[in-house]
Amino acid sequence: MKVRRPGFDFSTIRPHWAPVTEFAQFYNAFSTVPAHIEPYLVKVMMRVKEALGDKNPRLREDIEIFNKQEVQHCKQHLAFNNRLYESGYAGMQEIEAPYKADYERFLASKSLRFNVAYCEGFEAMGSASSQVFFEELDEYLEGADESAVDLWKWHLAEEFEHREVCFQAYSTLYGKGPFAYLYRVWVFAYAAKHIGTHTMRVANYLMSVDREGMSEEERAASQERQKTALNKIRQGSRKRLLKVFSPFYNPGKMKPSPGMVPLLEKYS
Ligand SMILES: [Fe+2]
Ligand SMILES: [Fe+2]
Repeated sequence: MKVRRPGFDFSTIRPHWAPVTEFAQFYNAFSTVPAHIEPYLVKVMMRVKEALGDKNPRLREDIEIFNKQEVQHCKQHLAFNNRLYESGYAGMQEIEAPYKADYERFLASKSLRFNVAYCEGFEAMGSASSQVFFEELDEYLEGADESAVDLWKWHLAEEFEHREVCFQAYSTLYGKGPFAYLYRVWVFAYAAKHIGTHTMRVANYLMSVDREGMSEEERAASQERQKTALNKIRQGSRKRLLKVFSPFYNPGKMKPSPGMVPLLEKYS
């Protein structure tokens, strides 16, 4: 694990960066998640470090790198999202505001156990998303703008790289017993619903802007493309996320997809 600082240039990026624009809009909607969740992850993991005290120097070191990686992800996504705001989608900020406020509320009022389990839930989604992006989406990524594809590949490959840090933090603080397991799975389901609902809200907004001025036929064709792209992404994620529900789930045992390691070497 290491910190990488790629110099992406989004100055010429278009929101419709992939040939299937509905596919691009789903990822544009996903791009609002790191903008708000990653500062939250960093704050939660700083609390974990404090709770660990002098114990587990290895985990504390991993948390350091994890946090630095998340800060870089957030920075790049904020720059990318700014381009979306400037390109006719400023209204997405209104949808982001209550989502951002949720994380402030979690930090102020929820237990550390909840927050660590929530972070682990997100990280489990992140490593599954990474495998989907590297293994299943070639048909959508062909002919797409490289800077958007590179942003996602770099971010998701690092998500895969640091996939077990939150899991280790949760297991170290709360153990691996039946209650710890049930609580982890319950909060995972909560996080998946929370993040999924937010993402769909943003995606629906982005696509509603695109559909203004479309004819009935164009609108129907766009809705069909949306459905197909979403099914593709969801099916890939669901089959991988089933593992999270196992009491023997261990993200450390997952093998990187082809392409992840060379991609990371490119930025090392
Ligand atoms: Fe990240
Ligand atoms: Fe992460």
